[in-house]
Amino acid sequence: MDRPIPTDVEREVTPVDLIVSKADAEGNITYTNPIFMKISGYTQGELLGKPHSILRHPDMPKVIFKYLWDNIKEGRDVVAYVKNLCKDGSYYWVLATVKMAKNPDGSFRNYMSTRRQITPHAKEVISDLYAKLLEAEKEGGIEASEKLLAQFMEDNGIHDSESFNTFMLNLNK
Ligand SMILES: Cc1cc2nc3c(=O)[nH]c(=O)nc-3n(C[C@H](O)[C@H](O)[C@H](O)COP(=O)(O)O)c2cc1C
Repeated sequence: MDRPIPTDVEREVTPVDLIVSKADAEGNITYTNPIFMKISGYTQGELLGKPHSILRHPDMPKVIFKYLWDNIKEGRDVVAYVKNLCKDGSYYWVLATVKMAKNPDGSFRNYMSTRRQITPHAKEVISDLYAKLLEAEKEGGIEASEKLLAQFMEDNGIHDSESFNTFMLNLNK
């Protein structure tokens, strides 16, 4: 499937929309709820078994996904803002909570992401941060954007994954 060409059209996520998906250990999609299909424009058949990066928008810095994976692999929940690309090239912003679910015996079951609407304030702050991270990445690779993200965290009193999640949740109030 060809990558969609991004447009400036934003799709609305309403306060009642909860966009859910589940993934295997590699991030391949194993479940999507109806609103996921409605907003992304893909059918379930086009999504199941595909990597979640099918939604990856070029405005998203790599470092955010590195942070996501570094944490969820260790079983730490991540709350993060994501700009996603739809099949028709439009986009939507969400605040995603990504968790690892385990079986009763403690083995890995799957990953799950629940995404919801974000506020105009959160969009403004995060768009600005991500644009800077992306620019740093273009100039100095992921080491440069990691440094900048670490600086952002320090400036905002974020010192672990819990305070990261709290900061992101508070920004959306
Ligand atoms: C449960 C789960 C949900 C995810 N949801 C998204 C998503 O909505 N959008 C996205 O771009 N990446 C999502 N990812 C991250 C992707 O796996 C991937 O790291 C990201 O798209 C960057 O892809 P790339 O490393 O191939 O560039 C999700 C991962 C997991 C485990």
